[in-house]
Amino acid sequence: MDPLKLAVFASGRGSNFLAILDAIDAGRLSAEVEVVISNNPQAGALDIARERSIPAVVINKKMFAQREAFVQSMLATLKKHEVTLVVLAGYMKKIPPEIILQYKNRVLNIHPALLPSFGGKGMYGHHVHEAVLAQGCRISGVTVHLVDEVYDRGPIVAQRCVSVEEGDTPGTLAARVLKTEHQIYAETLQLFAEGRVEVKEGKVGIKRK
Ligand code: GRF
Repeated sequence: MDPLKLAVFASGRGSNFLAILDAIDAGRLSAEVEVVISNNPQAGALDIARERSIPAVVINKKMFAQREAFVQSMLATLKKHEVTLVVLAGYMKKIPPEIILQYKNRVLNIHPALLPSFGGKGMYGHHVHEAVLAQGCRISGVTVHLVDEVYDRGPIVAQRCVSVEEGDTPGTLAARVLKTEHQIYAETLQLFAEGRVEVKEGKVGIKRK
């Protein structure tokens, strides 16, 4: 079993990225993070990468005169680092379709709710948890899914429930959900490392050990 060669895409603080690194260090995940890519030069995830001497790259549409050059820069970065799996961890931009095509069924995202509920455009960060609470849901959760051209729609790989407690605010619910995110992402990536994830007719199957 060759370790996965991950590219982590992150726009923000990078706590999921850190949890992935912790899982690798603890021997729970057979992977290496080869590169971190961000659209946001201020992203905490870039600092985490630099502290660990992991290549940290800012790639932003605004840096390029042509869209084509932007996409080529992303593809070239992934190729240079021989990336086998793309991991979105709080990446706030849409992944170009060229990348999705090139890495078919090899781009993952984590969403802080139980998809297909509370997903789609505008459903990020506290908006998700506000909507869950406004609906009076008793449970929320986490979804890890493959990425296709539509926000939050690709085949679901893993889900886990998180309870909504009396008196929850978006902040308290987000914090509880985040703890589960930190567990489930590394566990799901390990399924890929073990070659146990199959995609057939748009649905994911997990092979038994
Ligand atoms: C997480 O809640 C994740 O589900 C969502 O964005 C957030 C990123 O948090 N896609 P972090 O940057 O990993 O701390």
